[in-house]
Amino acid sequence: MIGVDVTLADLPLRDDLVGRSPYGAPQLDVPVKINTNENPYPPSAALVADLAASVAAIAVDLNRYPDRDAVRLREQLAGYLSRSTGIELYSANVWAANGSNEILLQLLQAFAGPGRTALGFEPSYSMHPIIATGTRTEWIACPRRSDFTVDVDAAVALIAQRAPDVLFITSPNNPTGGSLPLQDIRTLVHAAPGIVVVDEAYAEFSERPSAIGLIDQFPAQLVVVRTMSKAFAFAGGRLGYLAAAPAVIDALLLVRLPYHLSMLTQAAASAALRHADDTLASVAHLVAERRRVTAALHAGGFDVIGSDANFLLFGRFSDAAASWQEYLDAGVLLRDMGITGYLRATIGTDAENDRLLEVSSRLRRTVATPTLVEQGEK
Ligand SMILES: Cc1ncc(COP(=O)(O)O)c(C=O)c1O
Repeated sequence: MIGVDVTLADLPLRDDLVGRSPYGAPQLDVPVKINTNENPYPPSAALVADLAASVAAIAVDLNRYPDRDAVRLREQLAGYLSRSTGIELYSANVWAANGSNEILLQLLQAFAGPGRTALGFEPSYSMHPIIATGTRTEWIACPRRSDFTVDVDAAVALIAQRAPDVLFITSPNNPTGGSLPLQDIRTLVHAAPGIVVVDEAYAEFSERPSAIGLIDQFPAQLVVVRTMSKAFAFAGGRLGYLAAAPAVIDALLLVRLPYHLSMLTQAAASAALRHADDTLASVAHLVAERRRVTAALHAGGFDVIGSDANFLLFGRFSDAAASWQEYLDAGVLLRDMGITGYLRATIGTDAENDRLLEVSSRLRRTVATPTLVEQGEK
């Protein structure tokens, strides 16, 4: 193989990237993969057939660039959001990209970057600080309480002190699962001087109202980010989107790459949206399973953090990394987020959840104090 003698250290890498770790949830071939918060149920046969026919229909035009602004898809997404939130949204309120990670990148490219700052409540979604670093945005970590809730008064004080250009609020939060009440989000937006990104990747699993309902009050600040990777069972399709005032989308047009969303992605996502009701029927079952697994883990003596999402953070393990390996040896791939004493499990199929509970009942655990530690993720 060519080039194998060259290492990262030989390359003229930007100084601020030296020593950083890439995002890296393991992709291992084990029987129970419950480490990346996907919907365990594959697309229906009707959706697969519709998607295949849609892709075949547009394939004859693949010599042309796609609709740069993905207008029809954005109309469909606005329709879905309007139906599910009761708030009237139009295509001009919605923007789409290759996964919500790309949406987050575009937001930081437009509103953050060199000389600017972004603040988030940790532990939270690890890509927020990674994308901040990639865009040369200074990251400010505001620690959550030991029960993983946000101390809103402390947050307001830190926001006043640091005046972040971008504030991230993840609700429900990954990896801890809890949501921030709308009233607290309102308080934080009032306190924030700049853009507030509410990352609602797991909104469909929560009974709480969406922050989309607050956009009208804070049109120059609030952006709500969603994804089709979780409840929509479309992680492989890569489709993320946002709801905001049209001016926010005008800003993103300045930084997005032309034709970023391929014709294939637009057609596939449109097909997935046509079958939304069918796909989203799995959400109620996954929520019921989340309740069942929570109760069973509690009964087994585990500490389970209350979750509004399709995953659970649970412990307390005396050595979470060693327990992660024990689960893996038993064919169950969990996520070790580097939170002392805790591991995260995605709610899977009933059989996968049964297997998680079976292995859990065999593992020894002891009480440890949960604190954030600087250790690698697995
Ligand atoms: C809170 C949160 N935001 C965003 C994402 C990114 O999802 P995607 O890029 O697949 O839309 C994830 C994925 O795990 C997440 O947990």
